[in-house]
Amino acid sequence: MDTRLNLSYMPAVATRFDNLGVGFAPYLQPPPDGVIRWTVGEPGFQTPEPVISTAVSELLDGKTKYTRGQGSPALCEAVAHHLMKTSNISVSPENVLITPGAKQALLYSYMTVLNPGDEAILLSPSWASYEPMISIIGGVPVNVPVNRKNFHPDIDAIRSSITDRTRMIMVNSPCNPTGAVYTREEIEEIVSIAIENDLWIISDEIYSRLIWNGGEHVSPATVEGGKERTIVISGWSKTWAMTGMRVGFLAGPQQAVRAAVKCQANSASHIPTFMMEAARVALDCDDHVEQFSDAYRHRRNLMVQGLEDIPGLRIVNPEGAFYLFIDVTGTGMSDVQFADGALKAGVQLIPASLITGGEGFIRVSYAASEEDIKEGISRLRSWLL
Ligand SMILES: Cc1ncc(COP(=O)(O)O)c(C=O)c1O
Repeated sequence: MDTRLNLSYMPAVATRFDNLGVGFAPYLQPPPDGVIRWTVGEPGFQTPEPVISTAVSELLDGKTKYTRGQGSPALCEAVAHHLMKTSNISVSPENVLITPGAKQALLYSYMTVLNPGDEAILLSPSWASYEPMISIIGGVPVNVPVNRKNFHPDIDAIRSSITDRTRMIMVNSPCNPTGAVYTREEIEEIVSIAIENDLWIISDEIYSRLIWNGGEHVSPATVEGGKERTIVISGWSKTWAMTGMRVGFLAGPQQAVRAAVKCQANSASHIPTFMMEAARVALDCDDHVEQFSDAYRHRRNLMVQGLEDIPGLRIVNPEGAFYLFIDVTGTGMSDVQFADGALKAGVQLIPASLITGGEGFIRVSYAASEEDIKEGISRLRSWLL
């Protein structure tokens, strides 16, 4: 067929996008006016002032040109120091790559460890972007359900899901969407499975400073035998309220970081040059991090207390991050029916069946303002009680 004159003709897009999920996206749209938004995983705080003033002065100082792709030496050094101080992770600055958000670091990590057709274990339900991202690059996500009672990993299930195509295990503790914080024993078990089967561990530690149950954050990179096979991912979005500034990093064994540096050199090049110093300054803003943490702890308690006695809702005490993952099956509604009913009552929340393993649950974020938490609780109570 001669298509030259047919103006409506469009070439087909690559098949990798066929059936690719978009996670929570349909429920992350801004709701109608007056609806309370409990959906977005974004801190409701102002970015710390020293970060903003540094970014502005760097801009005025002409930091607007290309720069070192891996990240400024000062920032890579500061990240290495920060990882040791906060998580006991030992890494050299040469093995740190600064990326446009943790999301990009995840993509580079998957590109680094997965060949097409390789399997990646996800502890499901897991963060909505892991599965599509792995699929985009030709990997095969294998969802292994966590324990439905407390959202902790089912170690036997992980073991029995391993095949000769398995290449990596994804760990995200504290976890979005479930709020689970994995114990040292669980992390040790996962590392020993990885050692026995020669697997990589990609450890998304973006919520590592948001833990509420008195537990410790244990990175697989700090467990014996884990350092050689773990790529640690994190970023500035959640801890320093810098979601729109798009800064993240990965750190790990030299060979893996070298491959990831090549991914970045041939795609994003680097983060905005003026953000290098601003991100470094953020790492010193401990007072802000503590203020944010206190506020989250308070909001978490408000939300749990306001919802826990509503018949039909089962709330597992969230141990970390800023989400409640609530079993709504006791209401007789599906999670989508529940979310639609809540929207009519004036509260936007996420039905978790949009992601694998989330059927029957809703996710709410207590990064919302205190006022919105109180008003949302009152609307849900009037609807359900
Ligand atoms: C578990 C998890 N990892 C990564 C990200 C992405 O972070 P960034 O804004 O640094 O790309 C998010 C954001 O919601 C997240 O929840």
